Amino acid sequence: MQGKEETDKGKTMRLDKYLASSRAGSRKEVRDLIKHGSVSVNGNICRDPSTHIRSEDAVLCRGLPVVYKEHVYYMLNKPAGCVSATTDEKERTVLDLFPEDLQKGLFIVGRLDKDSVGLLIICDDGELAHALTSPASHVDKKYCIRTDEPLDEEDVTAFASGITLSDGTRLKSAVLDIFEDDKCAALVTIREGKYHQIKRMIASRGKKVVYLKRLSIGGLVLDRELDEGSFRELTDEEVRVLRM
Ligand code: URA
Repeated sequence: MQGKEETDKGKTMRLDKYLASSRAGSRKEVRDLIKHGSVSVNGNICRDPSTHIRSEDAVLCRGLPVVYKEHVYYMLNKPAGCVSATTDEKERTVLDLFPEDLQKGLFIVGRLDKDSVGLLIICDDGELAHALTSPASHVDKKYCIRTDEPLDEEDVTAFASGITLSDGTRLKSAVLDIFEDDKCAALVTIREGKYHQIKRMIASRGKKVVYLKRLSIGGLVLDRELDEGSFRELTDEEVRVLRM
C-alpha cells in the first residue's frame, strides 16, 4: 500500500501517530498523555510526541503495552431499528452502538436494511471493504429469513435459475434452502449485494420477507455469543479468512 507509514523493521513512526493509530486516543489526547509523562518507550518516560518508534520498541501507555495495528476490524450483531450509515440526521446509526472514541475513521462494509439484523463488518480498511463489496467480488453471503407464506420447490428452482427483479435486473443464481419443519423459514445464499435484494427476490415470488438475519460473509460467521447490539474485534484468523 502506497504512502503508509509502517513500523516494519527499519521503518519508524512518530510516537503520537503510533498511539493514535493504536486507538490509545485522539492525536490531541495522546499528545496530552505524552506530555503528562504517561507514556514510556523501552522503560523510559518519553515526553516528546515526535519521537520515532520502531516495531521492536516497547511502548507503554498508562502502564499498559500498546500493540500497534494498522487497521481495526469489528463484527457487529446489528439490531433492528438502526441504519447502516456512519451518520444520519434523523435515525440512530450502527456507529452509535460504538463508544465515541472508537468511531473515528470507521465505515460499514456492506449494508443491512434498517429492519434487518445480524452480521455487519465495521472497519477502517478501505481495501478490504472494496474487495468484499465491489460488484466484481463474488463473496457468498448467507441469511436466515422468515416469510409471510410458505416457500416451495418452485421458489428453490427460481432462485437457482436466477431471479429477474420487477425492474428487469437479472440476478445470479442463488441458493434457497427451506427448513424441513417450517416452510416459512429458509437459509438464502447470494453472491451479490443489491439494494433490498432478498426482499425483492422473495417479492418476485409473490411472498414477503418478515425477518432477515445475516449469518455469514465469505468465511466469516456471526459469533453466536454476540448479543444483538454488541460488537467485538475480529481475530487475526477471521481477518485472514475474509481476505481469502
Ligand atoms: N437483502 C435485503 O433485502 N435486505 C438486507 O438487509 C440484506 C439483504
